[in-house]
Amino acid sequence: MCGIIGYLGYREAYPILINGLKKLEYRGYDSSGIAIFYENECSLYKTKGRVNELEKKISSYKIKIKGTTGIGHTRWATHGIPDDLNAHPHVSNSNELIIIHNGIIENYYAIKIILLKNGFTFKSKTDTEVLVNFIEYIKKENKFSLEEAVRVSLNEIVGAYSIAIVEKTRPETIIIAKLGSPLALGINKKEFFISSDPIPFINYTNNALYLKDGEMAILRKGEELDLRKITNNHKLSPIIKKLKINLKKIEKGKYKYFMLKEIYEQPKTILDTLRGRLLISKGIICIDGIEFSKDIFINAKCITIIACGTSWHASLIGEYLLEEFIRIPVEVEYASEFRYRHPIIKKKDVVIVISQSGETADTLAALKLAKKKGAFVFGICNVVGSSIARNVDAGVYTHAGPEIGVASTKAFTAQITILILLALKIGKHKSTINDSRYSSLCKELGTIPEKINYILKIYDYIKKISKIYYNFNNFIYLGRGINFPVALEGALKLKEISYIHAEGYPAAEMKHGPIALIDENIPVVIIATKKGCYDKIIGNIQEIKARKGKIIAIVNEGDIQVSMMADHVIKIPDISEELSPLVTVIPLQLLAYQIACIRGKNVDQPRNLAKSVTVE
Ligand code: G6P
Repeated sequence: MCGIIGYLGYREAYPILINGLKKLEYRGYDSSGIAIFYENECSLYKTKGRVNELEKKISSYKIKIKGTTGIGHTRWATHGIPDDLNAHPHVSNSNELIIIHNGIIENYYAIKIILLKNGFTFKSKTDTEVLVNFIEYIKKENKFSLEEAVRVSLNEIVGAYSIAIVEKTRPETIIIAKLGSPLALGINKKEFFISSDPIPFINYTNNALYLKDGEMAILRKGEELDLRKITNNHKLSPIIKKLKINLKKIEKGKYKYFMLKEIYEQPKTILDTLRGRLLISKGIICIDGIEFSKDIFINAKCITIIACGTSWHASLIGEYLLEEFIRIPVEVEYASEFRYRHPIIKKKDVVIVISQSGETADTLAALKLAKKKGAFVFGICNVVGSSIARNVDAGVYTHAGPEIGVASTKAFTAQITILILLALKIGKHKSTINDSRYSSLCKELGTIPEKINYILKIYDYIKKISKIYYNFNNFIYLGRGINFPVALEGALKLKEISYIHAEGYPAAEMKHGPIALIDENIPVVIIATKKGCYDKIIGNIQEIKARKGKIIAIVNEGDIQVSMMADHVIKIPDISEELSPLVTVIPLQLLAYQIACIRGKNVDQPRNLAKSVTVE
């Protein structure tokens, strides 16, 4: 994943690059670097650690970095450990070419062997240093211009990339190219902004072009954009869009971390997801993407949902909802597994892809595979205009707003909200849900934001519980039915941000293994709301208590039985089973957040993780 940034124009590049990199840290933050070009010289700085480490290092030199052309990078390590040498930008052997790269060059090793045989040497362990030297090799061997050398080299590359490359002696030109990894270009009169996403340049321009796979652009100072196809060098006409992005939405405000802000935003984001789509009083669900696809859904023999991470947990909830309301078999797949296991997808099968970022490499590749096999692909995405959103046959945006915290929260509940609307709408159209159930669920959906608000008020109590449990090394999360995926999600939240080992299980599966772990050192977080197998869950709780396990139970207001047995209970409002994940997950998000804070972790930027995984 990694974030890339670049500037070519008339302003000083340094502040644009540094501030831009800070906004791209969600893509990786284990090392960063910049290269700025001035009078045929290049100032290159890079360091291990976050962008503010780079900034500190540069300011310790007490120099003013001049130059109106520059490139920068924030890294999430793939090839080579995070250190100064492996940090980007990377420089070719002659010191002439300087590159930044997001992605993975899969055939880098074979190319490296050729380069070594031709006398090239390498300082880093990265695939990117191989790429920049390969371009240099092709350039020198063929006496090509940089433009042609980049194009010819990229035709030999297997893998994914978004790159920006500069020749030290020609700082008035930057060449960029894309395959697989995202690349946006901001365009103003006499200046270009390069970035992995448009947020870093939106303050300067809202004219943007998203490069498509297989495209490269030659940016020349003061000249029109020159867009080309990498395979055959054909000139392309750029399609420049006007972006609408509200920057206020990506500020932390009074919150210490984006994650807490995003947890607290959920009553509003769910309303935003429903806005204009659910007419509660009349029980009407109207969403263009679903309207367009409803007959295709009804005629489908089976539905496959594909996603990664938290979006995969939302997909499991989707499986329960769709099977319940539209009575069509649903399979849920990890995108990374789906794409490599010869999946059985036939023409007219329906595939749903779910992704917050719309850029996850595995999900995008799975989408393309499903389309190739003739499936109708329906997308549920948060980021407008993202690669996944652009590639599906139809779909729905979640409208949760920008999610910055690496651990997904509001995007998850927005995805579930869309899945509920989808299942209800198709179910009604297919008559597999009766009218009164349909109307009562539509009404209840409208009450979710106030129910979440109610739970958010018990944050102080969750803080107290967190103080008791923050020091345990292992947690188990249990749930049943539609709340089993919520248990998985609760465990994922805890391990992602507090680095405590946590496992989620269907409650009844506990006796087939995890029960062996239970003793006084294992807290078990169990979703024990009144609906769905409540009596069975009481049995599971007794089994845990008999083995001295500690119980934190999520129960409904007024609960007596579980409350008597559990060590701590978190009370939430009553809600229908099918809608319950929208509320049961909230205390689990708060618990994980609070435990991570007490353990002193950087909640928004947990180690080794990134918000958007654009490498496989
Ligand atoms: C990364 C993020 C997760 C996210 C997953 C899938 O691992 O850290 O929070 O759930 O990618 O991302 P997507 O954008 O496709 O939902």
